[in-house]
Amino acid sequence: MNTILYPPPALRQPGHIEPCVDMLGRPLTDLRISVIDQCNFRCTYCMPAELYPSDYPFLPSSERLSFAQIETMARAFVRLGVDKIRITGGEPLLRKNLEQLIEALARLTTPDGRAVSIALTTNGSLLAAKARSLKNAGLDRVTVSLDSLDNGIFQRMNGVDFPVDKVLHGIEVAQAVGLNPVKVNMVVQKGVNDSQIVPLARHFRHTGVVLRLIEFMDVGGIGAWSRTHVVTSEAARALIAAEFPLVSLGEGKPLLHETASRYRYLDGGGEVGFISSVSQPFCGDCSRVRVSSDGKLFTCLFAQDGLDLRPQLDSAQGLESLLRRHWQRRGDRYSEVRGALAQASGRKQYRTVRMSLVGG
Ligand SMILES: C[S@@+](CC[C@H](N)C(=O)[O-])C[C@H]1O[C@@H](n2cnc3c(N)ncnc32)[C@H](O)[C@@H]1O
Ligand code: SF4
Repeated sequence: MNTILYPPPALRQPGHIEPCVDMLGRPLTDLRISVIDQCNFRCTYCMPAELYPSDYPFLPSSERLSFAQIETMARAFVRLGVDKIRITGGEPLLRKNLEQLIEALARLTTPDGRAVSIALTTNGSLLAAKARSLKNAGLDRVTVSLDSLDNGIFQRMNGVDFPVDKVLHGIEVAQAVGLNPVKVNMVVQKGVNDSQIVPLARHFRHTGVVLRLIEFMDVGGIGAWSRTHVVTSEAARALIAAEFPLVSLGEGKPLLHETASRYRYLDGGGEVGFISSVSQPFCGDCSRVRVSSDGKLFTCLFAQDGLDLRPQLDSAQGLESLLRRHWQRRGDRYSEVRGALAQASGRKQYRTVRMSLVGG
């Protein structure tokens, strides 16, 4: 593993804290916090309505981490090397007074004095109303999930007939208030919304919005999954490139610690990304950790069990050494392992935690 990542002793600043690396040499840089497991959508690939009826036993608010607990936890992670925090869910904008949490997180600085970047992933339904206050609270960037421009397809996929125009408006408002670059995540399912790949690419070219196409994954909580429903990044890219020629920004692979393979349009129309979690699962430089809304730590989206942090959230010192030890013991490469199993059989092979609890 490449140790050039870390400042050599001669270049270390006063107050330098030894970076925290796992058993495969991967540093801890990226924290995703799920602030709520509930959602106002029922996306067919995440929380299908038949599995998540209105009386589904979501976490009661008393079992969610409080903002003070999240801040304590985030502060410890930042001391260990985290410089990017993403707020997610469920639908994070359903959490009341989220701006207060963002204000607290935006004040964090790394041991060498840099600001921590704060991003949010949302379905966009409440974004137009909240973008300004989120920006004022210190949010840097936003990623909006949007699977179709066609209203009928979008309404079927979000499971609650939510109109696409409102999400598009939310994206415009987010751009206008400066939550840039706005990214749009599209989960592509064969025969469901693959007709929308080129229309979405066309729509967001020359707008500054970065569209990212995500392969439909076998995440927890969705019941049946089959590889036959996956449109590979390669296939999606070929569709786009046939109309709008593309140039790779990273030899067809994600850049260090990134999830998407990035491309730019040859004519200067902007950027588009592809997340190949199924066809090219890659754990090699994964530097992400996730915390569920009830305070469990997951070092991989495809892990089955999390480490309960709540008993440790009263002591910052104890928490930091627990997190350091836990990361140092990490050897996960579930994505690659599960990818090999799913490739071989074409079907899901094991249980994983539900996406809406641990966040995407
Ligand atoms: C779980 S959602 C949480 C945040 C917010 N509710 C949203 O939809 O953006 C985070 C991301 O996970 C993605 N996601 C959910 N289920 C997925 C699946 N089965 N395969 C691939 N991506 C999935 C969503 O598209 C979304 O971009
Ligand atoms: S992808 Fe996001 S919006 Fe859709 S059901 Fe899951 S949590 Fe809700």
